[in-house]
Parts: sequence; C-alpha cells; structure tokens
Amino acid sequence: MLFKAPRGTHDVLPSEVERWHYIEEVIRKICQEYGYGEIRTPLFEQTELFARGVGESTDIVGKEMYSFKDRGQRSMTLRPECTASVVRAFLEHKLFNDAQPSKFYYQGPMFRYDRPQAGRYRQFHQFGVEAFGSGSPALDVEVLALCDDFFTRLGLHDLRLEINSVGCPLCRSAYSKILMEYCRDRLSEFCTDCRVRYEHNPLRILDCKSEKCAGLVEAAPFLAKSLCDECSEHFDRVLELLNCLDLKFHLNYKLVRGLDYYTKTAFEFMLPEFGSQGSLGGGGRYDNLVETCGGAPTPGVGMAIGIERVILAIEKTDFDFAALRPKKIYVALAGKDMIKEGLLLLQDLRENGVSSDMDFLGRSLKGQMRFADRSGFSFVLILGEQELKEGVVTVREMKSGQQEEILRREIVPQIKARIL
Ligand code: HAM
Repeated sequence: MLFKAPRGTHDVLPSEVERWHYIEEVIRKICQEYGYGEIRTPLFEQTELFARGVGESTDIVGKEMYSFKDRGQRSMTLRPECTASVVRAFLEHKLFNDAQPSKFYYQGPMFRYDRPQAGRYRQFHQFGVEAFGSGSPALDVEVLALCDDFFTRLGLHDLRLEINSVGCPLCRSAYSKILMEYCRDRLSEFCTDCRVRYEHNPLRILDCKSEKCAGLVEAAPFLAKSLCDECSEHFDRVLELLNCLDLKFHLNYKLVRGLDYYTKTAFEFMLPEFGSQGSLGGGGRYDNLVETCGGAPTPGVGMAIGIERVILAIEKTDFDFAALRPKKIYVALAGKDMIKEGLLLLQDLRENGVSSDMDFLGRSLKGQMRFADRSGFSFVLILGEQELKEGVVTVREMKSGQQEEILRREIVPQIKARIL
C-alpha cells in the first residue's frame, strides 16, 4: 500500500457514518431548542490567536499545535479548539452590537499533535457552544443543562459532572503565592516542565499529566478555598441552580482544565471507565478572553464535547445504531433487456423518497439475491419478462423469505407503506 491516513486521524466510512449523522442531528436540534445559532469558522487561524487566547504555557500551545508558515511567511495554526476562533469572529463581525447574549454553537474537526491512543487523536471532532455578553451564573447552568440534555438524548446516563471554580485573576494571584510556597520545598522532585511552570504560571502545575507531579500536588491547598467574595458567590449560585434543576454534580477542587482562559466555573463530564481519556466534554466561564483578544470586557461561558469519545461511549451501551439505517430496496433484474425497466422503477422509487439500488454488474438472479442479502436490503423487487407481460413485480421480503406479486402501478405506495 502506498499511502495511509496520517497517524492519529481516521476515515469515517459509509458503514460508520450514520452514527455521525445521528449525533449531528441531535446537536442541531438541541441547539435550536436552546437558542444557539451555528457558526462556522476557518480550520486555521493566525497562531497568535491561540497563543494569546489559550495561553503560551498550556500544553496545547506549547506542545500540541500544528503550526506552519504560509507562503506569505505568516505563522498559521490548525485550530486546536474553537473558543478562541469564535471570540475572534464575534469581534471581527462586531456581533457585540447584536442583542446580547450572543449564543453560538459549532461542530467540526480540531487538531492537536498529541500521542494517539484510544480516544485521543490528532484530528478529532468537537461539538461546542459559546455564549457571550452575560456574567450570570444562570448562563453557566444553561450550558451545563444543555450538555446533560445532549448526553441523555444519546442514552449516556452514567457520566459524572465534575465542577470547580478557578476564580478570577485576583483570587488566582493570591492562590499562586500559596501554591508556590507549598511547592518551593519540593521543587526538585517536580518534572522539568513543572519547574518552568513554577516560574511562569504555577497554576499549570495542577494540570501536569505526570503521575509524580499529580502525587506531589495531591495535598496542595485548593484554589476554591482562596476565592474572592464575587467568585465565591458566583460559584455558590451555580451550585444552587444546578440543585434546583436536579443536575447532579461532584465538587472537584483539583479541576483546573488545560486552557488558560477560564475564570470562575470550570467543569468536565467524565466517564471514569475510560481512564485518562475519560473526559467526554468540558468547559467553563472565561470572562477575560474577549478582552485578551482585543475586545471590550465581555463575559463568556461555553463548553466542547469530543464526538469520537461520545461514539466510543455510546458503543459501550446497547444503543442500536443499525436500527437507524433507512430500509433499502433492491431491484433485481431477471432476464435480458430489463435495464430500462429497472432504471425506471428506481427513478420512481427514489422520486418518492425510497432508498433503492439495482445491479450494475450483470449478475445472475441468484448472485443478485445473494448480494441483496449480504448488503442489508429489506426487500427485493424482481423484474422479469413474465412480470413485465403481466404488469406486476415480484416482491420478496428478505427477512422472512416471503414473496408476493404486486401490480407495477401500485408498487411505490405499497413499498412505502411497508418501509417508511
Ligand atoms: P478541551 O477539554 O480541551 O476543551 O476539549 C474538549 C473535549 O474535546 C474533551 O473533553 C475531549 O472529549 C475532546 N478532546 C480533546 N482533545 C482530544 C483529542 N486529542 N482526541 C479526541 N478528543 C479530544 C476545549 O477544547 C475548550 N475549547 C472547551 C470550551 C469551550 N471551553 C469553553 N468553551
């Protein structure tokens, strides 16, 4: 074989695509119901947007971006996430002049140069929402309710919502000092990356993937305990509203998320049986991101869910994707010169919304029946010389093997009644 898909990327084949269509439909429907409008942004942006937005000291920007110089020597990056892109579009098109809050959703590929494994890819797909222009804790809760609703509609009931508050720059600078003090005596035991993080962005130490560092920060003081009054009130209100909607959550004071823009609420939806790739989705509030990207101070909150991980999770349930497949009709040609009749029948069926196909390889009737059986057709319509003479079609239901003759002029409504 000459070529293979690049490591960490996947083809979605026709036999798998219905699960994608199904999830995409749920996304469109739910976002319409919650009042989020679709936004489609480019797959690449100026590198600087992500460096600024996501944060220089994050793993995403430091280690995982697909960056390249274009022919004009400008540094571009395949989007590793979409929040920064939506903020850029919000500012570029002055959408802040519209009635607020502005609520967007997106779905599409993201790119991160990470070590591929089950549930972690270099090109993966996210469904996300972003809402700008309101600092109300009720909007945080709407985003969480939307996630919960999305997972429920897909039959994923065992997810664990973990939630924390990462405060604002004010609480964080107070907490950074406490954390640095805690780490100082143990600094030589931390990994090289964390020693750099200690100097530039100590909070990122809490997000270190190495087991050793995770163990070292296990007993570190929690950020949520150093919140200022405003952040603390916001967090309490979010939890109160979650309780009001009966949305179950678990406080996780260690949750900091891998992106720098978060303020106040931060959350993840976890499927513990997936281990280190157990985060199906995550998000939070980012009240300073719009300003960081050059706009006026504008609060924001959002989330993104990994579609591949959702599919893996659904596959572990008894959800029957095959049942989503539309029933298909196969037109079998029994005898010479049936091609015209076959094409006309196909035209008739398709014009009436019936998925149908026929033989294009000149197979024998037996061969056509075998093919129809193997390919999952529900009914075969047999066109032969005898049938043509009598103005009928022989209809065979593949599952039961039962056959009957139906008048050619009645075939379309009769078939529709059986399959739609
Ligand atoms: P994130 O936690 O980096 O957040 O990614 C969100 C989700 O994308 C993860 O929970 C996971 O399901 C999926 N994901 C991330 N990386 C990979 C990968 N390499 N392979 C497969 N799936 C992956 C964000 O991206 C933020 N932009 C979310 C957000 C929106 N926050 C506020 N608004």
